[in-house]
Amino acid sequence: SSMHAELEKLLDTSTGAEREVSKKDFEGFKNIFHRFLQVKGPSVEWIKIQRPPEDSIQPYDKIAARGLPDNVADSLNKLVVVKLNGGLGTSMGCKGPKSLISVRNENTFLDLTVQQIEHLNKTYNTDVPLVLMNSFNTDEDTKKILQKYTHHRVKIHTFNQSRYPRINKESLLPVSTSLSMTGQSSEGWYPPGHGDIYASFHNSGLLDQLIAQGKEYIFVSNIDNLGATVDLHILHHLVSQPNGKRCEFVMEVTDKTRADVKGGTLIQYEGKLRLLEIAQVPKAHVDEFKSVSKFKIFNTNNLWISLAAIKRLQEQKAIDMEIIVNPKTLDGGQNVVQLETAVGAAIKSFDNALGINVPRSRFLPVKTTSDLLLVMSNLYSLDAGSLTMSPKREFPTTPHVKLGSSFTKVPFQPRTFSKCCHSSSLQGTVIIIANHGDRIDIPAGSMLENKIVSGNLRI
Ligand code: UTP
Repeated sequence: SSMHAELEKLLDTSTGAEREVSKKDFEGFKNIFHRFLQVKGPSVEWIKIQRPPEDSIQPYDKIAARGLPDNVADSLNKLVVVKLNGGLGTSMGCKGPKSLISVRNENTFLDLTVQQIEHLNKTYNTDVPLVLMNSFNTDEDTKKILQKYTHHRVKIHTFNQSRYPRINKESLLPVSTSLSMTGQSSEGWYPPGHGDIYASFHNSGLLDQLIAQGKEYIFVSNIDNLGATVDLHILHHLVSQPNGKRCEFVMEVTDKTRADVKGGTLIQYEGKLRLLEIAQVPKAHVDEFKSVSKFKIFNTNNLWISLAAIKRLQEQKAIDMEIIVNPKTLDGGQNVVQLETAVGAAIKSFDNALGINVPRSRFLPVKTTSDLLLVMSNLYSLDAGSLTMSPKREFPTTPHVKLGSSFTKVPFQPRTFSKCCHSSSLQGTVIIIANHGDRIDIPAGSMLENKIVSGNLRI
């Protein structure tokens, strides 16, 4: 009830539209905060975890082997592409929306997405719209940029996710004293994770609008996953299921390697498929969770979800997602927590949920400038907004790139690397060390294998 009073006080710092939006946001926040207070202990009992049944995670090849029908366009016209665009480019040293970072030939994540969908619409003469879920952090900058796509053949919609108050770690009360986003009080707010999509998509009215247009499925993915293109086989599989057996939720998963310890995995729990994230794993079982032998696959966050199901479950308030408690320290040193949810955690609430084990190429996230260097290089070629790995590479894995601390931020100087990457060959482990401000020239045609190159050495 002290929380209740604090929220009322916050609402009174504003009037009009802002107050109304915040009122809605606070309903959602009160709900998650209430559940947070009730949580006792871990959300899963380890011994109740079971391996998912054989047919609940299907190999992609099996889905694709059924082939495509002649009326691909009919299926496409039931599809909406949704990109999660609430996040900033902080991990690559950029203050604005991550989607506006240039990744390849001056194209941003958003440009590539628009090109992909436009290509689909032109090829099949369809009308697949793009929906961006923005946050208060990204909405303004994104909308400014959207003007440049007005003449492209793709309708773009946006809606905003919620804005929740950060709470003090000890008192559990909001740290902000005003709804205003200027000065210090802006530090008091956060977008509550991509699990917020269900409530905010429904609240925005866009969900109903798209259903009224005959749309049936959304394909949701992280905007920084360059492998998350529309897959016609998965789409066809979904729309061709007989009524009554309609799959309401597909999670694309992929084989885990020893480097993928972070991603969530699918388990069978109380008779349903469920996403298990590392944060839910009791300490004693963390190593087991990370092993690739017991938990073989992880969530790519490429999800296909039925619009009608979202509407039904949202109206019944039946979407259940584990709360992620994310601790932060503010600039002033204050310790706060933010309560978040993840979009994939809702899988257990949907009927006939299915995992599809897709090729690794559908998971190409760009989280660091090292990832960025790879997607800029000629390891990939770009075609209609999609990247494909060069067939010259013998193994479909990416080389391991680790850039030094001078290269952790964008804008990034690709010229530093371009000459080297395009005409030289690096094999095994090659380490290149330049003194601050120095440059190292690697002559065209060099073959470097298991070498350390340092100083101003010319080779
Ligand atoms: P992140 O980049 O923050 O998360 O968001 P992550 O750790 O790699 O991956 P997850 O959370 O385990 O999947 C992934 C995508 O979700 C969006 C980001 O913009 C990015 O596209 N996002 C994240 C939102 O739209 N809203 C949020 O509140 C958080």
